[in-house]
Amino acid sequence: MSVQTSHAPASPADDVARGFADRLLGWYDRAARVLPWRIAPGSDERPDPYRIWLAEVMLQQTTVAAVAGYFARFTMRWPTVADLAAADDADVMAAWAGLGYYARARNLLACARAVVADHGGRFPDSEAALGALPGIGDYTAASVAAIAFGRPAVVVDANIERVVARHRLIETPLPLAKREIRAALAPLVPDNRPGDFAQALMDLGATVCTPRAPACAVCPVMADCRARGRADIERLPVKPPKKAKPHRHGLAHWIEQDAAIWLVRRPDKGMLGGMRALPGGEWGDTPPTESGIARVDHGFTHFDLTLTLVRRAAPAETAGAAAEGVWWPLSDLDAAGLPTLYRKLVDKMMVERDA
Ligand code: ADE
Repeated sequence: MSVQTSHAPASPADDVARGFADRLLGWYDRAARVLPWRIAPGSDERPDPYRIWLAEVMLQQTTVAAVAGYFARFTMRWPTVADLAAADDADVMAAWAGLGYYARARNLLACARAVVADHGGRFPDSEAALGALPGIGDYTAASVAAIAFGRPAVVVDANIERVVARHRLIETPLPLAKREIRAALAPLVPDNRPGDFAQALMDLGATVCTPRAPACAVCPVMADCRARGRADIERLPVKPPKKAKPHRHGLAHWIEQDAAIWLVRRPDKGMLGGMRALPGGEWGDTPPTESGIARVDHGFTHFDLTLTLVRRAAPAETAGAAAEGVWWPLSDLDAAGLPTLYRKLVDKMMVERDA
């Protein structure tokens, strides 16, 4: 089946576009990954916008492998956007624990509630209306519009960025290259199957045009790839110089009583906002003077943190947090929904006390 692009009348550029989409979609028809939110190419089924949106939000900054279990648990527990909108904030935050970037979970709830309150429980079907919902940025608006609603949106995630930067040999460093990448991709997007086209590029980036050792020999768009055969293909897209990350330090309090520990909820605003946590003070630039009973290092996007665990006798010794806390049984820590930072520290403590 041939593909039409929106850029008539025919020109040599159209031929490139048509050839590119045809070859890519032909490959996708054979090689598409089977993913829980995906409608297989050629199926008559309609994608469920709720599932597409949920997957796209979960997949930001994360891999398909990391998301699969979360996606299954969320859709089992909250099968529709109305179910999610009616959920308790604390349950959603706990279910998100471990996925990181917790502002996404708060925005997820805000978005579900806006879809119910302002759109009668149905996601709007245009990129602009999707982009007006809480927590839906340019990328998510484009990907949901294309995948769930068949809109010819220009979808650019990190995988697609890599594929296009190589195929068009864009040597401008990121993030400046983003405009060029988008401009190069826009005329290639077909009017029919734009959702499959976006997902095909994602799959190509994830399985063939990989960051290291791309499998160019099996690439469906190798013939006109400008970076093909270059020894330095892995350099593309050109990354910006790495900034040194600041190192910060913090204390966490271990307050134990009757086989339970005292857990608090972090303030809604700020790092790990709204998540359950061990109590403790602000994080700062100087290491603590106490040596502590356990310690973890954790990398956030913009800084690294060393968190030191110190014993405290009672919640009252933990500034400001006493009223907000709960005694959590040590035997049921999985259900607490601790973000990875605190989970690592608690696990380390449990190992050390059992040793
Ligand atoms: N990464 C981000 N969105 C994706 C999708 N819809 N399919 C596969 N990988 C993705």
